[in-house]
Amino acid sequence: MKGFRGTLVDFTGDPRTQPGALRHVEDGLLMVDDGRVVSAGPFRQGSGLEITDLSGRLLVPGFIDAHVHSAQTDIVASPSASLLDWLERHAFAAEARFAEPGHARQASEQFLDELVRNGTTTAAVFPSSHPQSVDALFEAAERRGMRMVAGKLMMDRHCPPEVRDEAQRSYEEAKALIRRWHGRARLAYAVSPRFAPTSSETQLELAGRLLEEHPGVLLQTHLSETESEVRWVRELFPWARNYLEVYARYGMLRPGALFAHCLHLDAGEWDRLAAAGAAAVHCPGSNLFLGSGLFDFGAARKAGAALALGSDVGGGTSFSMLRAMYDAYKVARLRGLPFDALDGFYLATLGGARALGMDRQIGNFEPGREADFVVLRPDATALLARRMSQAQSIEERLFLLMALGDERAVEATYVLGAKT
Ligand code: GUN
Ligand code: ZN
Repeated sequence: MKGFRGTLVDFTGDPRTQPGALRHVEDGLLMVDDGRVVSAGPFRQGSGLEITDLSGRLLVPGFIDAHVHSAQTDIVASPSASLLDWLERHAFAAEARFAEPGHARQASEQFLDELVRNGTTTAAVFPSSHPQSVDALFEAAERRGMRMVAGKLMMDRHCPPEVRDEAQRSYEEAKALIRRWHGRARLAYAVSPRFAPTSSETQLELAGRLLEEHPGVLLQTHLSETESEVRWVRELFPWARNYLEVYARYGMLRPGALFAHCLHLDAGEWDRLAAAGAAAVHCPGSNLFLGSGLFDFGAARKAGAALALGSDVGGGTSFSMLRAMYDAYKVARLRGLPFDALDGFYLATLGGARALGMDRQIGNFEPGREADFVVLRPDATALLARRMSQAQSIEERLFLLMALGDERAVEATYVLGAKT
């Protein structure tokens, strides 16, 4: 049994709809045994307990990045005129290099180093269309004991041959990867058609079949990120009433489905997404960098859709979920909508866990949860320290960490109770 003394912060629900969902123990003790939380409560001296003293620091559940590309680290911060231009000029080329297993292995290690450096302990990841890119990521995550979601990209049209697959082959490759990885260690497979424009209808149908054949496997894709993409989808799938309808038609609109972006959905699409128990992953850093649009929290909240946060590196330029929270705050401000630090920290922890269907494993400090947590330093920078000394409430301290913090505020990241 191990104990960690510090200020504990986690959520029992969504603080926007459940007042009192924030749990805060100023002088707290997180007890961990065999990688799992035993208890989280006020500090007390225990005999024979090995205690790590993290007094003065905040302990929060490990951050969950619900949308990120492990094969795009090398093109982070590559400006472009638009999403589609950026894909053609930068993203596909970076992903093509993942055909080479040595590169995929080295890049996956560095990718996980970045996640850990930023306090992210679980992510839903897009590697490349090459199965070896998934093997490389999962092998590295398994060695580190991390909970990770990924799947090979399915893309059989409108992309260069180096990254293009073929419908039947993509189905078989995904099937083999599911057999090899899904449910092994802390790993879960997500069927990952890149987005509707780069898949034939045959491939989308086979993606749906994979989900049908493998209960418990997740789905991740991109949805309605830019207006020109929406127009393109309308041309490619003239039978569909809207973009979401394309995924729904092939059995992808379901619980355990993660739809990144969702910037240009109409009210009907929001209602349908929410009713299906699927989740929208808000990626504000990427939306701002690529100029894709401003996420409509109002519509998402009105529909009651499950929400999570994603860095979307390399469309996003930071691996920091603190940055993602702060970008979400700024986007909400531009929309005239409320968004506070509790929204941010909830989305990056329990919100993400719920979207992934993993809230019984991760996301807060309930007894039995896997003990992934981040140690945040309120005095990480001179400015943070100065500003923090005047903060009154826990809400204010969390806001300052969100607005002024980044990886410098992450003192340590623990996976299953062990420092990584
Ligand atoms: N839509 C399809 N592929 C991608 C991608 O790699 N990044 C982003 N941001 N949007 C996409
Ligand atoms: Zn993406």
